[in-house]
Amino acid sequence: MAAALVVMGFGPAVASARDTSKGTAVVPAKLETGIPAARLADTTKVASLPDSQAPTYLRDVLPIFMGKCARCHNDESRFLYNWLDYKTAFGERQQIKRRVWDSWKGQYYKQSMPAGNSPECEAMTAEERATIKNWVAAGATYGVPPVASNAKSKAERIEQGSRLFASICALCHQPTGQGIPNQFPPLAGSDFLNANKERAIKILLHGRQGAITVNGHAFDSSMPSLPLGDEDIANALTYVYNSFGNSGKEVTPDEVRAARAEKDDTTTPHEQKEVAKAPHVPNPYE
Ligand code: HEC
Ligand code: HEC
Repeated sequence: MAAALVVMGFGPAVASARDTSKGTAVVPAKLETGIPAARLADTTKVASLPDSQAPTYLRDVLPIFMGKCARCHNDESRFLYNWLDYKTAFGERQQIKRRVWDSWKGQYYKQSMPAGNSPECEAMTAEERATIKNWVAAGATYGVPPVASNAKSKAERIEQGSRLFASICALCHQPTGQGIPNQFPPLAGSDFLNANKERAIKILLHGRQGAITVNGHAFDSSMPSLPLGDEDIANALTYVYNSFGNSGKEVTPDEVRAARAEKDDTTTPHEQKEVAKAPHVPNPYE
């Protein structure tokens, strides 16, 4: 996972970076999704958007991929593409657009993504689908990392971490932190989490595979390594430690930075990565 340097930023600084008040004249005020935002403009108009308003991978699309695709499409997937890798996502951008947009509208014969009746599919919003569509239409640029969060107190950290938790972690660990039996371990009152802060930080940095026992229940699954920055990891873990009956610890970006410099000793060795390639099926629409 080369993208670990990315600072995603779910803080207020990012919220303001997303405000797009200039140049809105070139786009309709409302789209078919009903969302009044310049960046969600129709594909026919998006080409004329100022660069600052076209969706970018780092700022707009990667957070969606982390929350709604990474469980299946990650750097450990053997048969599926890893959308957390920009080059892979760029190379397959037309397929991505077809699956998250055209298939939902019945204009493309293959199943829509996120696949099936997965929790990701339930949680995917029209706004997120439009963002991905418009990102492809505007050239699928990489962009620059959003401004990192700037939490100045534990309370701010918890506040910003709660948003990141809701958009990324909650899908697997559930909004209540209770997890799902046999699939996702609980964070609520987790003996594993509360026993060792450094170990928790490393799980967020590197993901985790293999057998694990949490509150007496065995799990043997995989958490993908997500491209989160130091501030985001500090915020997410501080939120988790201060929610769900946990121990109330704070995690600072300095602690995350220190753990990043150490080796990943929390998990069984990662399997040799293979670039996942779904079998090629001819496309009758081309
Ligand atoms: C629950 C697991 C799951 C989730 C979540 C999921 N996918 Fe998939 N995806 C699959 C499977 C399985 C396939 C292969 C079967 C197929 O092609 O329909 C696939 C195939 C694809 C393909 C076709 C690749 C190609 O070129 O052949 C694209 C594009 C895709 N997914 C995009 C996405 C995007 C974008 C997201 C998130 C918004 C997502 N998927 C979320 C399971 C998932
Ligand atoms: C795609 C699903 C998924 C997502 C998203 C995810 N996790 Fe996990 N997480 C898991 C799985 C599965 C394990 C257990 C891995 C194993 O079996 O080794 C785990 C383990 C953990 C553990 C250690 C075990 C425990 O329950 O205390 C912590 C802490 C944790 N995750 C925190 C987070 C946080 C915080 C986020 C959001 C930034 C997050 N996870 C996002 C699936 C996920």
